[in-house]
Amino acid sequence: MRTLVKILKWTLIVLVLVIGGFVAFVFSKQSKTYDAEYPDITAVQDSAVLARGEYLVYGPAHCSGCHSPIEKQAALASGEHIPLQGGFLFPLPIGNLYTPNITPDPETGIGKLTDQQIARSLRYGVGFDGRPLFDVMPFHNLSDEDLQAVISYLRQMPPVKNVVPKKELNFLGKVVYALLIEPIGPEAGVDIPKKITPDSSAKYGEYLANYVANCRGCHTNRDLKTGAYIGEYYSGGFAMPSTMQPGKAVVSCNLTPDPETGRIFDWDEQKFIERIRKGRIIPLSEMPWDQFQQMSDTDLKAIYAYLKTLKPVKKETGTAVIDLPS
Ligand code: HEC
Ligand code: HEC
Repeated sequence: MRTLVKILKWTLIVLVLVIGGFVAFVFSKQSKTYDAEYPDITAVQDSAVLARGEYLVYGPAHCSGCHSPIEKQAALASGEHIPLQGGFLFPLPIGNLYTPNITPDPETGIGKLTDQQIARSLRYGVGFDGRPLFDVMPFHNLSDEDLQAVISYLRQMPPVKNVVPKKELNFLGKVVYALLIEPIGPEAGVDIPKKITPDSSAKYGEYLANYVANCRGCHTNRDLKTGAYIGEYYSGGFAMPSTMQPGKAVVSCNLTPDPETGRIFDWDEQKFIERIRKGRIIPLSEMPWDQFQQMSDTDLKAIYAYLKTLKPVKKETGTAVIDLPS
């Protein structure tokens, strides 16, 4: 009897120490930092570069949709190029993530950051302060020229003073952050071009779809906690929590050319372009339709050509709007 009590007592003590140690470890890792090289990118004021930046920011790269609060989305949809004050909320299973203010305001925006810090965040997933960024932005393989164009454009936006809440991770989120979140950088085996000239080729379409417009990032199933890819590329089925209606999720469709389950299998190029131009049909769709509507014909042709080269994957993705799986 005495030994049993002793064993229980020690088990309890060890358990408390282990749990306490784990909790302390998780909290200590909330301020972990990483290093990455600073890309040699400097903003310029050349008008052609700024025009390219503006096109990317409000069009294919859809920075505008994510880095604007929900109440400014109507202005963006009507084609206004408003400054990107941040504050859009992503309600995730790991907690709340807000987009930062990326106007040049020195206190609440990116005014105090160097061009190279911003370039490093976008390319290597290492924030200005060294923290690993959640992999929501796909720009790791953006060409040097396009990265320069985007940063140059941000620099000349009117500054907006707007304080955005920091990320609010729940305990699960803190554990995930401590153990699993690491900076995601350029894709292995894929060159980062210095310069890439837009044309309607599948090769340029691949660049846009993977590293600019994030078609792959949404049309592939992913682990909502870590952002890791868990489905076959472009086969859809990623249920993203609605940013507009709590309790709902929106499921991306299969974009591979599978005859039975591929959403655009029997669409010709013209139908594809017309569909993107038409914009949002499903009100809760998370796809940045308002931005993609502004893409050029050349870019849409290139993306269409690329999607047709994908390996067909048979995968039914079901209805687009579902109740959030709990
Ligand atoms: C899908 C939504 C989304 C899109 C599109 C997007 N962002 Fe972000 N961005 C975020 C989120 C969310 C964060 C915060 C990430 C974090 O804190 O881990 C962020 C962070 C940033 C940061 C801060 C990095 C740091 O060092 O702290 C910058 C700068 C930025 N984005 C610029 C851009 C630019 C420029 C574009 C377009 C080329 C863009 N973003 C497109 C969601 C997006
Ligand atoms: C932020 C996530 C997201 C991104 C980025 C995204 N999509 Fe989607 N897409 C969705 C979701 C969710 C749906 C289903 C709801 C809908 O039809 O709007 C969808 C639907 C579609 C549809 C079917 C529309 C229909 O009428 O059936 C096509 C085609 C499509 N996406 C193509 C693309 C292409 C091409 C890109 C890149 C240029 C892209 N998507 C980027 C989330 C995304």
